[in-house]
Order: sequence, then structure tokens, then C-alpha cells
Amino acid sequence: MNPTTQWDDEDKRADRAADTFRQLFGASPDGVWAAPGRVNLIGEHTDYNDGFALPIALPQTTLLAARSRTDGLLRLHSAQGDGRITELAVAELAPGVVTGWAGYPAGVVWALTEAGHPVGGADLHFDSTVPTGAGLSSSAALECAVAVAYDELYALKLTGPELARTAQRAENGFVGVPCGIMDQMASVCCTAGAALHLDARTPAHHQQVPFDLQGQGLRLLVMDTGVTHDLADGAYAALRAGCERAAALLGLAALRDLSASELPGALLRLPGELVPLVRHVVTENARVAEAVSRLREGNAAALGPILDEGHASLRDDYRVSCAETDLAAAVAQVAGALGARMTGGGFGGSVIALVRAGEESAVGAAVTAAFEAAGYRAPRILTVTPAAGARRLAAVGAR
Ligand code: GLA
Repeated sequence: MNPTTQWDDEDKRADRAADTFRQLFGASPDGVWAAPGRVNLIGEHTDYNDGFALPIALPQTTLLAARSRTDGLLRLHSAQGDGRITELAVAELAPGVVTGWAGYPAGVVWALTEAGHPVGGADLHFDSTVPTGAGLSSSAALECAVAVAYDELYALKLTGPELARTAQRAENGFVGVPCGIMDQMASVCCTAGAALHLDARTPAHHQQVPFDLQGQGLRLLVMDTGVTHDLADGAYAALRAGCERAAALLGLAALRDLSASELPGALLRLPGELVPLVRHVVTENARVAEAVSRLREGNAAALGPILDEGHASLRDDYRVSCAETDLAAAVAQVAGALGARMTGGGFGGSVIALVRAGEESAVGAAVTAAFEAAGYRAPRILTVTPAAGARRLAAVGAR
């Protein structure tokens, strides 16, 4: 999708969302907001270790048509849902009360009230193009759309990192997924044409790093393996707990505080099962620094080998890849990609491949053929560009 098509398309989608909102709720929305999904270029499973990551926002977004209410009711509807409107009382929101997709938006309203912000109810209609279950942060897009909309509807004037933190709090405390802050920071704070250099210890200090795919004759493929991951299933929490135990054993606040030169000595002091986890986190933080340097030099093609090394580390040390993501990455590498790796939390999800312009079809076809030969479901392949973070699209209609 080229950027122009994306914006035209988004305007039409915003109009449609506003129309549907009027039909559902009998009044015009106060506005329509958009929040994107993300892919992470490098820096996986580092955020909850206070480390570094380098995500981009996707052109795929969750749109939210929203209107505040004065009676404390929260009414939720999704174009991708079962057609029903979920009705909740803001004052009664509590962890465990709301299940399914509605937990993400309700969780953000809960997190805002928990933080003492004077927010009330709203009518919310969502319409998303972010693929679900693909490791592309469709849940962060849902949360962040609510966070930016509520920020305006209730004049909260929170910063981007504060909104991202609120969305993360919703996921941790309300939905019950112990995720880090990368997905929400990407969805709120990314800018078009750049990757976000995130320091998860101090998210307010993030930096935009120009990532000019078009100008450097490059394309970025996202290949959704169709294998759905579920971060709530305990594996993610166990990995996170392992990292925290390792940091405690080493007397560190977080694994981010271990440098590459200190790594060999530190590994000797850890029980065997924690060694590969720590090795991944420390080398992955170094890969982020390396990737940022290459991008700042204007050499995005040099990300290739860094992506390949990142995949090997997730496969062999962190062990969060699976047969499908390993196959997609390996075939893309052999078929001419400059580099490829799984992205996101793992246990399925998507693989990214950096390719030279003109080679995207050949690489995509090779992966598709390999999946067919292996008896796997056909991957869904997108070509993406670094897009903008969450924003208001339009002041649609009037009360
Ligand atoms: C998921 C989490 C993030 C991050 C990644 C792995 O996407 O939501 O916080 O930990 O996994 O890098």
C-alpha cells in the first residue's frame, strides 16, 4: 500500500465509521481517532528488561468513532465483533469483570480512573484493519485508540508516553497480560517514515530514527504465519519471570544493566536454564544499538544481518519461535531477502523480511510455496511502510 492510498482510504474509513456510529448510537461522534498496529524491527523481549527496541507503526489501524456521555455508561461496538453493543458502567469496572475484546477498551477507561483522572462514559465504535492474532499488536491498537480519544474527550492533556503507560496498565492490570511497553509506545509515539528507538526504562526519552525504505530501494514484508499466539497462556510470563530472577541473582535492577563485555562473566554465575535467556537479552540490546547506528548512517540495507542474528537468538536462546516462523525466515533468507526474523512475542505470529525493491514477489512466492509443501496454511503477506502513530483523523459532525 503506498502512503497516499493509505490516507485516502483512511478518510473513507473514517466517514464510514462515523456513519455507522450515527446508526448505532443516534448521534454524531465527537471525532474519529486512529491507532496503528506495529512491527518491531529488532529488540524483542527486551522491553520488560528495561531495554531497547526499534518498532515501526503499520499503515493498518484501528479506527475509533467516539462521543463522551454524561451518565457514566460505556457502550462498545466493533465492526469486527458479533454485532452486539456491550454496555458497562464505568464506576463498576474491575479486573475480571469484562471478557473478550471489550476488555481492552474497558481496561483503558479503568486504568484512567485508577490513575485518578476524572473520566466518565462514552459511546465507542471500532473498525480495524490490523490483523488479529498475527503478532502485530491489534490489542495495543485498540487500547491506544481509546487512550488518545479519551485524552481529548476529557481534556486530560497526557503525553504520548503517559498514554502508552495507561494502555499498558490496562493490559497488565485489567486484561491480565504481563506485557512490556513496546507495543503501546509504538502505537502512540511512532511517526511516519521513522522507526522508534525506545528505551523502555525511560519511554519519555524515545527517539525517531529515519527509516527511508523507498529512498533506499528497499521494501519490508510482513508474513503472517497464521499461527496464533496467546501471550496470556503463561509462557510469556514464565520468560519474564526467568529474566527477573536472573537480574536478581546478578544483583541488577534489570538485565538492561548488564553490558556485552560483562556477559561472559555473568553467565558463569547463573544456573544453566537462565544462561540462554540472559544471552539473548544482552545481545539483543546490542543489536538494537547496532541497527540504530546503521539507520543513522542511512544504510538500512545493513539491517539485514542484524535481523538474521536476531532470529537465530530468538530461536536458539530465547526459544519463542516455532516451525512456521523458522521456515518463513529461513526461506526468505535463501530466496534473497537481506534479512528476516520473527517479530513480536513469538509462539507463532509474523515474520518480517527486508528485501530489495522488486524482489518482494519472489520472496513472498518462495515462502508461500514452502508453506504449501510443508502442509501449512498459506501465509498472509503484506508490504508495509513506517506509518504514523495514534492521532485524531477528523472532527466529524457536530452534536
Ligand atoms: C509482546 C509484548 C511486548 C514485547 C514483545 C516481545 O508483543 O506485548 O511488550 O515484550 O512481545 O518483544
